Amino acid sequence: MTKLKDHHSCDFCGKSKEDVEKLIVGEQAAICNDCINLCNDILVDEKIKAPTEQAKLLNPVKIKDYLDDYVIGQDDAKIALSVAVSQHFKRINNPSPDIEIEKTNVLMLGPTGCGKTMMARKIADYLDLPFAICDATGITEAGYVGDDVESILTRLISEADGDLEKASQGIVYIDEIDKIAKKGESTSITRDVSGEGVQQALLKMIEGSIMRIPATSKRKHPGSEMQEIDTRGILFICGGAFVGIDKIIKQRTDARSVGFHANVNTNEDSNAVYKDLNTKDLIKYGLIPEFVGRFGLIINVEELTEEQLVQILVETKNSPVKQYQYMFKLDSIKLEFEKDALKEIAGKAKELKTNARGLKNIIEKILLPYQFDAVELVERGLSLIRISKNTVNGESAIMIFDKNKNEQTK
Ligand SMILES: Nc1ncnc2c1ncn2[C@@H]1O[C@H](COP(=O)(O)OP(=O)(O)OP(=O)(O)O)[C@@H](O)[C@H]1O
Ligand SMILES: [Mg+2]
Repeated sequence: MTKLKDHHSCDFCGKSKEDVEKLIVGEQAAICNDCINLCNDILVDEKIKAPTEQAKLLNPVKIKDYLDDYVIGQDDAKIALSVAVSQHFKRINNPSPDIEIEKTNVLMLGPTGCGKTMMARKIADYLDLPFAICDATGITEAGYVGDDVESILTRLISEADGDLEKASQGIVYIDEIDKIAKKGESTSITRDVSGEGVQQALLKMIEGSIMRIPATSKRKHPGSEMQEIDTRGILFICGGAFVGIDKIIKQRTDARSVGFHANVNTNEDSNAVYKDLNTKDLIKYGLIPEFVGRFGLIINVEELTEEQLVQILVETKNSPVKQYQYMFKLDSIKLEFEKDALKEIAGKAKELKTNARGLKNIIEKILLPYQFDAVELVERGLSLIRISKNTVNGESAIMIFDKNKNEQTK
């Protein structure tokens, strides 16, 4: 028969009952509160050390790898965004009892059509999180016609199929944030419906608080049921083109370099100007200081080069060229683009200042007549359409028919 313990001292450290705050006694052994704390620390340490599946997924390198498949260029932005997202989810998944780690919302800034929305969307896809995109221009202060800020959360909840818990860890992308900049002094006499008021309204939500929103997506009416959502775990990414901010940056930096350098950089690459951006420029642009202060990370998205636009045309997983080739293949037509044609398309997109956003539209215009005639052309034996530089500039494409093997033009 086992001998019962005397229960007067800890079996782990040997301290007696009188020397410890608490001694927990079992049938075979006793343990003091100090030893329990020590064991707990060991267990927590091990839990942190063990790389879980989720931790592997949240590795910024893996997130960037995934983005690389879809987004050309923008390396700095991809790295910054991957780290921000990874840190954010580490924070919400491992709350510390001792340190309150603050939220880092992201402000993305750069020309139209260069990948801001796309990067945010791809990150949400990668993490399989509810993702809501909304447009700041549609948001108004409560009481005005238009959507109020709570509608952003309503959208996120509906993206999460009504699951509040899931929604409260999602990502919200607010586009066109530059459009809610305060207008000039002269217009501030009347109440600024779309500017400062909206920034004020967004502050609380972005910073992280418990927000009360109507339980349905329908318009609020008195007595409608309300639900609460904690926005502390929601990552807010705001994006905007901030047209004209380069002038503000240049004004400030040029003022610093009086004398010789003051006028030399008129043709300076705009990407270099944006690298100098600081929060003062955003405030001068019309964002209120409290609003700017809610963003821990400001990311520059760069203007794409012509070569990068060509890469976007052909290299990404769902590049426009691959998409059209697939669609023509369904009609049994092979679609080819000559290298010069791709450069010409990229050049046009740059000229139009639409960047990558304009690429698809340019190709669509070129291919529309062939898409329209595809069925008849195939009946006549068409097997290949080749797009040359001249096709991009309005001439017909080179078409190869199988039946007579002659090159013909349409
Ligand atoms: N860097 C990129 N790599 C690959 N495709 C891109 C890139 N940038 C943009 N695109 C393409 O252009 C489209 C438009 O880009 P996106 O919506 O991300 O632009 P944006 O920067 O958010 O512009 P805006 O300021 O007008 O909202 C994307 O759907 C994508 O097809
Ligand atoms: Mg966008």
